[in-house]
Amino acid sequence: PILDRPPFALTLGLIKPDLYADPNAVHAVFERLRRDQWEVVRQREVLFQPRDAGAFYAEHQGRFFFDRLVGYMTSGPFSAMLLRRPDPNKDAITAWRALIGPTHPVRAQVNQPQSLRAEFGLTDTRNSFHGSDAPETAAREINFFFPQDPVLVEYLAHWRGAD
Ligand code: TYD
Ligand code: MG
Repeated sequence: PILDRPPFALTLGLIKPDLYADPNAVHAVFERLRRDQWEVVRQREVLFQPRDAGAFYAEHQGRFFFDRLVGYMTSGPFSAMLLRRPDPNKDAITAWRALIGPTHPVRAQVNQPQSLRAEFGLTDTRNSFHGSDAPETAAREINFFFPQDPVLVEYLAHWRGAD
């Protein structure tokens, strides 16, 4: 399948509610993005109702942390970003997840101290960032926040055409 083939130049990133509520921290994050040459193609402020959080994190329904995760993600507005690597040969999904670091901030502090979760994450749940984990997921998650966005549609069409 087309989407199994890296690199995938787009990904979906979230600045989660706790961090989004802190303008200084948000400013620092965007400085970092600029320095690392990320292109923020789209950005929107989102406020989740519990059913929205449940739909976005459907894969985690039934996990022990699910209710905590939904509580966190509905605690205030957050930022959703459609991100692109300027170099189309670089995989945005891997690069973004490398930048944000491991899920657990404490692990991030030990293993990837330069990562964003190491710097800003608070707890296992309140880890301040999201990044898509695979091309199929990125396409679904971009479409979740930016339905039928022309950038995504054109990108997928281009990949299909290249087949
Ligand atoms: P997951 O997809 O495993 O992590 P990631 O965000 O790095 O892709 O989990 C989704 C979110 O669920 C995670 O960002 C925070 C929350 N979570 C917990 O609260 N506790 C946990 O043990 C795990 C694995 C996740
Ligand atoms: Mg995940």
